Amino acid sequence: MEAIILVGGLGTRLRPLTHTIPKPLLPLANVPMVERMIKNLPETFDTAILAVNYGLNEMEKYFDGKDIGKKIVIVPEEEPLGTGGAMRNCFDHITGTTAVFNGDVVSSINLEKMMKQHVKTGAKGTLALWEVDDPSRFGVVELKNGQITQFQEKPEKGTELSNLINAGNYLLEPEILEMIPTGKKISIEREIYPKVAGNGLYGFPFEGYFIDSGTPESYLEANFKSLGKNGTAAHKGASIRGNALIHESAKLKDCIIGSDAIIGPGVEMEKCVIRKSVILSNVSGYGSVIEECIIGPDVSFKNDLTRSLISPKGTISF
Ligand code: GDD
Ligand code: MG
Repeated sequence: MEAIILVGGLGTRLRPLTHTIPKPLLPLANVPMVERMIKNLPETFDTAILAVNYGLNEMEKYFDGKDIGKKIVIVPEEEPLGTGGAMRNCFDHITGTTAVFNGDVVSSINLEKMMKQHVKTGAKGTLALWEVDDPSRFGVVELKNGQITQFQEKPEKGTELSNLINAGNYLLEPEILEMIPTGKKISIEREIYPKVAGNGLYGFPFEGYFIDSGTPESYLEANFKSLGKNGTAAHKGASIRGNALIHESAKLKDCIIGSDAIIGPGVEMEKCVIRKSVILSNVSGYGSVIEECIIGPDVSFKNDLTRSLISPKGTISF
């Protein structure tokens, strides 16, 4: 069984990080976002198809010769084809019911449960649904007896049909993918789902968490959710507070790490306090307190921190 992961975005809201690392390769708790998604696929999935445009070279290089337990097929797009066009572009690689993921979503979805429902209802498509207070910047559905009867993409505020949003994770039968014209830029949300609504499109509401990790704030949150309870227990160069992850290759001396802190590979720090932050690979730092920041990769605190830092609402003091 195949899963398509849509990894086309420019990641503009995560610049400057995404100038050098395409968003899908940005780490979440020290594992690239897209790799985490592939590893989380249930066993029934033997193939992950990556629909890529921006960052193609980096993606090919990253997965070249890497064994992560699934076959990886990278399907490039010369021009961005939109969410639907990108899926259609992968059509030759699918063999039946296909799972599709927006590459920027981190969630607690139980795909196996969703698959059971998909089979039981005989749906043409099943969309994972999440409840939010303000649905206007998402896809919004009307759900009646489990069926999606209407789909609106980014409706104007006040016109939303419900608070249930498209969580960017689908199970689709090939006939839905066949509805998408080939070689054209098509949004599945704007051009296809409204047509299938009321005709075999089902919803799968879930609980737990849902994070669209495209902003600095949500990227931090996605890191801490991905870390879960799997933090580092103890470290000889650091006192660990609460939940924190320190990469085995990091060298720390007299540091306080956590709660909610992720220290990447090759990091070297001395006399630093790191809270609610992500320190990416090969950063070196001395004598600083870092809170609610994303730092790195490959920078030194002593040089000019402000040039290499995304700090949503963070504070730094020396
Ligand atoms: N390959 C490829 N080509 N991927 C693309 C393209 C493209 O042209 N355009 C977008 N994508 C990928 C993005 O990289 C992302 O992983 C996913 O498709 C969704 O695109 P976004 O640009 O992140 O859309 P959004 O967040 O505004 O809205 C989507 O996600 C919401 C949930 O987070 C929609 O699916 C909404 O309906 C949904 O509620
Ligand atoms: Mg998004």
